[in-house]
Amino acid sequence: MNFDENLQIKSFANYKKAYRESVENPEKFWDDVANHFLWKEKWKNTLSWDFKKPEVKWFEGGKLNITENCLDRHLETQPNKDAIIWEPNDPNEESRHITYKQLYLKVCQFANVLKNNGIEKGDRVCIYMPMIPELTVAMLACARIGAIHSIVFAGFSSEAIASRINDAECKMLITANNYYRGRKSIELKDICDEALKNTPSIETVIVYRRTVNPTPMKEGRDKFWFDELQKAYNDNEAEVMDAEDPLFILYTSGSTGKPKGMVHTSGGYLIGTAFTFQNVFQPKKDDIYWCSADIGWITGHSYIVYGPLASGATTVMFEGVPSYPDYNRFWEIIEKYKITQFYTAPTAIRALAKQPIAHVEKHDLSSLKVLGSVGEPINEEAWHWFNDNIGKGNCPIVDTWWQTETGSIMISPLAGVTATRPTFATLPLPGVQPALMDENGKEIEFNNQQAEGRLAIKAPWPAIARTVWGDHERYKNTYFSAYENKYFTGDAAYRDASGNYRITGRVDDVVIVSGHNLGTAPIENAINEHEKIAESAIVGYPHEVKGKSLYAFVILNNDEDASEKLKEEIRKQVAKVIGAIAKPEKIQFVPELPKTRSGKIMRRILRKIAANQTEDLGDISTLENDDIVKKIIDKAILD
Ligand code: PRX
Repeated sequence: MNFDENLQIKSFANYKKAYRESVENPEKFWDDVANHFLWKEKWKNTLSWDFKKPEVKWFEGGKLNITENCLDRHLETQPNKDAIIWEPNDPNEESRHITYKQLYLKVCQFANVLKNNGIEKGDRVCIYMPMIPELTVAMLACARIGAIHSIVFAGFSSEAIASRINDAECKMLITANNYYRGRKSIELKDICDEALKNTPSIETVIVYRRTVNPTPMKEGRDKFWFDELQKAYNDNEAEVMDAEDPLFILYTSGSTGKPKGMVHTSGGYLIGTAFTFQNVFQPKKDDIYWCSADIGWITGHSYIVYGPLASGATTVMFEGVPSYPDYNRFWEIIEKYKITQFYTAPTAIRALAKQPIAHVEKHDLSSLKVLGSVGEPINEEAWHWFNDNIGKGNCPIVDTWWQTETGSIMISPLAGVTATRPTFATLPLPGVQPALMDENGKEIEFNNQQAEGRLAIKAPWPAIARTVWGDHERYKNTYFSAYENKYFTGDAAYRDASGNYRITGRVDDVVIVSGHNLGTAPIENAINEHEKIAESAIVGYPHEVKGKSLYAFVILNNDEDASEKLKEEIRKQVAKVIGAIAKPEKIQFVPELPKTRSGKIMRRILRKIAANQTEDLGDISTLENDDIVKKIIDKAILD
């Protein structure tokens, strides 16, 4: 395959060629890709795999350090290009521009801080920091010396941190004293101190001072970032890593049990994130790319940090939220930095679409070339709003389907190269072989006809997670036991007659009503299409006759529209789009939905409310807005 110098595929014909080659001869295909990167020693075996064990190895025998690919490699060609542009929560605080040279020096120096504090290759380091450049410095410094970073999203509770630290037996915790999020000021160190009561493996805590607030420090254990820097040089020889050495652990919640620490490795993850970043977003040399996710999630790991930096791009980091100081914030940032690629989540798009359009119209968004969506199915209404008002019909929307476990984007349009289609993630990327599975566990072969089924993947791709930290059995059971020789995604999908995929939602969100399988996502899409509706969530609840029936929690654009008549209109709308069987029996208008800090609706709680089991809601500590739960319960329809 002949890529251009940036590894980019530039035409649909070339996409088809690349795809074919990646399936027919994956070793050759990925050799060509991997040859674009900096290796200290070339790999001996491109791929070996066995989904039964399961075991996957890419670029075995290859030696590299991912930070040399993200930093050192760019020092000769573009030392003064901005690697990171940081936009603070408060627009009146100064933004920061950090060039590749500066980032390199910061990472080397902090790598020495880690070493001075006894961290060695293979040690686990927990990072619990807000969206500030030092978070990136800390993670890259770990990677530089071969320590395994485990980033815990700064919105998580002390219990969540403690359980993650203990699961991976982290030796060090890196945090900040305090941070800002919208109007809130959050005492991060206090949360850490609570967690640290139960984390025997932690020897050292490094604290970055984000604010001048007084910071409680424990003698002998806690050290200030700046004090430690004073003792460290800024030259550091990168550790030689095996392609299959772990790079990081990132926890993701399972449908049951405690979070799973997904383990990603150095070589395959680098190749997977850089290749997909280049091809999905098609960045050009002077582009300014912004992904509004948090680095605490996989989207931030892969598409704020590793993918863009390995590609030599300028990546924007934003500390704040879309609503502070007001809903102009995102559009202001796009105008200020002349953002070219803007990658965000449907939940943000829907929240923004609810606001007066004047917020958008006040800003010059003409720099935008590509829009991206990730994390959940994007409904038709949100897709069109994004396309019409933000992209002005000129920017392809890359609806990227992937997971913490996949490490890199799996199904998505390539901007300007392959066609987009509202609500469809469209076609698999080169190297990705999806399969739709029927209810008997058999693959529904593609024969130019539409089909629906569970989504599995037939062969490994470079960035696939290799195991669950400390629990390979769980890795096997969760992902490789549903179907023989296939990775099971946990998602369902629809495939049109041209082979385009639309992800319809988690299989665990499917509700069976009168024997019919109903995906909640399509019903929600149907409801959301109603002009008076902002967002909705459907869950099943036990029903005497039908087994399960549907309960809809609905947010209105305007609360005054709440009426029995509107409920009827909603049912009609669903009947029209999907069928009478999908009509929600109960409809409750709610001011908000309970969401995790990553923007996912916590359906588990809604299911409990709908089932009138509110005495046992389980852990709601990861909710962004836990006060909403009581409000919903108070008005729940329980007869
Ligand atoms: O259900 C799919 C949904 O998010 C799940 C993965 O969540 P997580 O590991 O937190 O990673 C999110 C960011 C990659 C998937 O199983 N999902 C992700 N992207 C999409 C999506 N659903 C529909 N369309 C997408 N583009």
